Amino acid sequence: MSAFARRHLGVLAVTCGLLATPALLPTAHADAPVTNRASLKQDLCYQVVTDRFADGNTSNDDPAKSPGMYDATKTNWKLYWGGDFAGIQQHLQYLKDLGVTAIWMSPHVDNIDKPAVYNGVPNAGYHGYWTRDFKRPEEHFGTLAEFDSLISAAHSMGIKVIMDWAPNHTSPADPANPSFAEGGALYDDGVLKGTAVNDTSGYFHHNGGISNYDDRYEVQYKNLADLADLDQQNGTVNSLLKTDANYWMSRGVDGIRMDAVKHMSSGWQRSFADNVLASKDAFLYGEWYLGSKTDPLYADNVRFANDSGISVLDFYLNIAMRETFGSGAPMSNLDAAIARTGTDYTYKENLVTFLDNHDMSRFLTLKNDTTALHDALAFMLTVRGTPCLYYGTEQYLHNDTSGGGDPWNRPQMPGFGETTTAFKEIQKLSALRQNQPALAWGTHQQRWINNDVYVYERRFNNDTVLVAINKSGAAYPIAGLNTALPAGSYTDQLGGLLGGQSITVGSGTGGNNPVTSFTLGGGQVAVWSYKGPEPSSPTIGSAAPTLTRAGNTITVEGRGFGTSGTLKVGGVTASVSSWGANRVTATVPSGTPAGIQQVTVTTSGGTSNGYALKVLSGAQVPVTFTVTNATPTNPGDNIYISGSIPELGSWSTDRNTAVGPLLTPNYPNWFGVASVPACTTFQYKFLKIAADGTATWENGANHTDTAPCSGTSATTVAWQY
Ligand code: NOJ
Ligand code: NOJ
Repeated sequence: MSAFARRHLGVLAVTCGLLATPALLPTAHADAPVTNRASLKQDLCYQVVTDRFADGNTSNDDPAKSPGMYDATKTNWKLYWGGDFAGIQQHLQYLKDLGVTAIWMSPHVDNIDKPAVYNGVPNAGYHGYWTRDFKRPEEHFGTLAEFDSLISAAHSMGIKVIMDWAPNHTSPADPANPSFAEGGALYDDGVLKGTAVNDTSGYFHHNGGISNYDDRYEVQYKNLADLADLDQQNGTVNSLLKTDANYWMSRGVDGIRMDAVKHMSSGWQRSFADNVLASKDAFLYGEWYLGSKTDPLYADNVRFANDSGISVLDFYLNIAMRETFGSGAPMSNLDAAIARTGTDYTYKENLVTFLDNHDMSRFLTLKNDTTALHDALAFMLTVRGTPCLYYGTEQYLHNDTSGGGDPWNRPQMPGFGETTTAFKEIQKLSALRQNQPALAWGTHQQRWINNDVYVYERRFNNDTVLVAINKSGAAYPIAGLNTALPAGSYTDQLGGLLGGQSITVGSGTGGNNPVTSFTLGGGQVAVWSYKGPEPSSPTIGSAAPTLTRAGNTITVEGRGFGTSGTLKVGGVTASVSSWGANRVTATVPSGTPAGIQQVTVTTSGGTSNGYALKVLSGAQVPVTFTVTNATPTNPGDNIYISGSIPELGSWSTDRNTAVGPLLTPNYPNWFGVASVPACTTFQYKFLKIAADGTATWENGANHTDTAPCSGTSATTVAWQY
């Protein structure tokens, strides 16, 4: 496309955005649909810190609403530097050329107007995580019309837009510290609701700051650093956070990256996810920060990802990739990470993989070696999960000041050239990803490994990708390698960009075809791919969203769906809205039983595998359950809830199905928030589960409760001895 055509496209979209009357509903704005926003498995995501990407409209650099928050010299890294919605829009063609199909934008909502002063240095919410008003766009980033314009321009190019939503907190607040001038103020569409320093309505928790980040009560109910911690169970807060999120979804947002999910109850978040998904199918993923691969809350993070309807950023694999490509750990470290996460996470292809982000040093700070970066990118772009690239990686952007962490990992985007090796590598592998079911939905198998070389295979039916990466400086002869690639010869999908050559595959048995020995040079990467003809019988690779209920839209993807057939959820036939060989969209039928239910596709060629979805009983509300005087006998015992509905574990005594572990800041009282169907009466009991998994129910009759029809509620009972 010519530079003129590119500009022309941008101008058209801007004009369209400006013409939209504010009073009109966003749906009145012509907006091209994107393909399957409920799943990112075939996408390449790109994380943008809006303020640092591109300044497309200088008139919003230093708005009158919030003076003193902009630094034109770009020397105070804690102030705004000028990037905005218009800047992203002007570089959509660049992103498209790179192969990006989804943009994760840093939080776009209104942040603090007055600086938070730390050690005499004024700090702005240029990163977006210090919300003031969840319903207004940040004035440094642009107007609502510019926001709409960006979304429709992105959609017209087939690019999804994911918003970063930070409902855990507002902004820095401390009654004893007037340097945090906003006092954690919360506004809704310009109306002040309250502040954390004078919280007359109970919008915030007041339990002090977190001191033990491994304690599940502290992380959820104390302040993350200085940030005013919202109480999502407060009726006003609950409703505001959900209504405002859906407002942005209705303006065209395709998905949500949820901030700090470790710091809010899983129950509230499940009700949040349900509320979003009932209004629009979308992909949701959360930031559950793991400090190490042995983080004590790792199991809680797995449970969250499996049950909440919100996937997670793959911190476990992030740590392993940085160890292996950045710090000399052997390839077996990566192989073990794939195996571990593959066992633990129900929806491993929904994990969002990343090498670095705005909260850690960039990869090139960790290891200033572009070959190592290319190797790591090749891995990330071909392994299970949805790859998310941090802006500027393709330009080798890094600033190593003080170890290159926050804020040095958020430099100005240096330029938009399209010629680096990383750019070309990403472009080629993104194109392959969009086309190759094995990369989106396939299994992972290690085929050849030593400390420096990892050869692995991704496979979906006959579709096969074989990847070989050598992270060392030395060449290795690769002998005795087998593959499921059919006999024949294969050229490197990277076209030799990273030194890869062609291979010859002979005939073997049982999916083990011998590869003629070859040499994999130091630092080299090769990717070989086979995509078979459309099969005559159906196989499902993906169904999304994974948390659903009757009336919601689901998208089922795979191969061999033919031109027509039947789609069932939990054995009940769904009404289909579109049918293609690789994608079917349908409505979850009323009468679908709640609980874990299989989706199947049946055609004249046969019936597919089942793909498990979590089907809810109805619209969800978050309820706080408290039991007093529950005194477990042994250390390591925890209290859980189980009850008559799938949301409460259907009387299961398995700790991965019952709701819990509950929290006990005031031992021996325990509480937890569970997401339950609105307006519904159910029974439940508390139970104790010991460290070895032995469960003991409380005595007496079942407790009965009826969930409110909207909002939140709380119920307290005494443990029955
Ligand atoms: C995690 C975000 O990624 C980080 O940048 C932010 O400061 C905290 N959450 C608090 O919102
Ligand atoms: C399941 C039963 O259905 C329920 O009534 C009972 O309270 C629990 N098990 C505990 O025994």
